[in-house]
Amino acid sequence: MKRASRPWVVCHMVPSLDGRIVPTKWPVREGAYAEYERTAKALKGDAWIIGRISMEPYVKGQEASKTKVAAPTSRAPIPRTDHVADPKARRFAIAIDPSGKLAWRAGRIDDDHVITVITERVSDRYLATLRAVGVSYVFGGEDTIDVKRVLRTLRARFDIERLLLEGGGKINGSFLEADVVDELSLLVAPIVDGSTGTPALFDRAPAKARAFELVSVKKRAHDLVWLRYRRAR
Ligand SMILES: NC(=O)c1ccc[n+]([C@@H]2O[C@H](COP(=O)([O-])OP(=O)(O)OC[C@H]3O[C@@H](n4cnc5c(N)ncnc54)[C@H](OP(=O)(O)O)[C@@H]3O)[C@@H](O)[C@H]2O)c1
Repeated sequence: MKRASRPWVVCHMVPSLDGRIVPTKWPVREGAYAEYERTAKALKGDAWIIGRISMEPYVKGQEASKTKVAAPTSRAPIPRTDHVADPKARRFAIAIDPSGKLAWRAGRIDDDHVITVITERVSDRYLATLRAVGVSYVFGGEDTIDVKRVLRTLRARFDIERLLLEGGGKINGSFLEADVVDELSLLVAPIVDGSTGTPALFDRAPAKARAFELVSVKKRAHDLVWLRYRRAR
């Protein structure tokens, strides 16, 4: 069989009934988040990817790497080439962080090895820090992120076959725009958010609408409804 040039992308999210995704003020029943994690596990991705904003709390929760972060010892510029910090890693947590704002403290989130997707405009100092704490990095472009290029790199360099795209709205919107969302896995929460201007499932302007075919509908615990769709090709 022909080897796919990019991972299969499953967008797995918990939207409200009105498509909003910021749950901080939702009266969510205890256990609903566990249901999200259980469902994510069942989707059997070998990696998950989220936007810089959604990754912030995970970075804050990291324990510092035992490796001391040293300042760059050489003034020679660090080449803008991809860096694999852990060649043995098989499961990955990935962020898209074009200007290098995430202050990584270690190269792992739980059991997953961290890959950050950056652009060539990040500083040498930032690259040196990523290397020191054991974070892998890939370049998504010179100044902006080319989503298709990133996916090809993740497949070729890290052998990622199945990628869970887990928000927020901006990263999801950019994947939809690039037409690389192959499946949707939506655990719809029994909540009407009612706000305007907060992140939605896909946030992109101008947006290009894409059609999906229904695969299954299941009632899950806590009145969640699990909707699965596949991109209509
Ligand atoms: N309900 C759920 O299932 C769920 C799941 C995940 C997240 N969330 C919620 O979603 C909210 C965050 O969503 P959000 O839309 O504001 O942010 P986001 O998608 O998490 O992150 C957006 C940021 O990531 C970077 N980025 C992502 N994709 C990019 C691309 N293709 N090209 C260039 N830069 C890219 C940019 O960083 P820079 O700004 O640095 O350029 C961008 O501003 C949070 O409140 C979180 O709680 C909900």
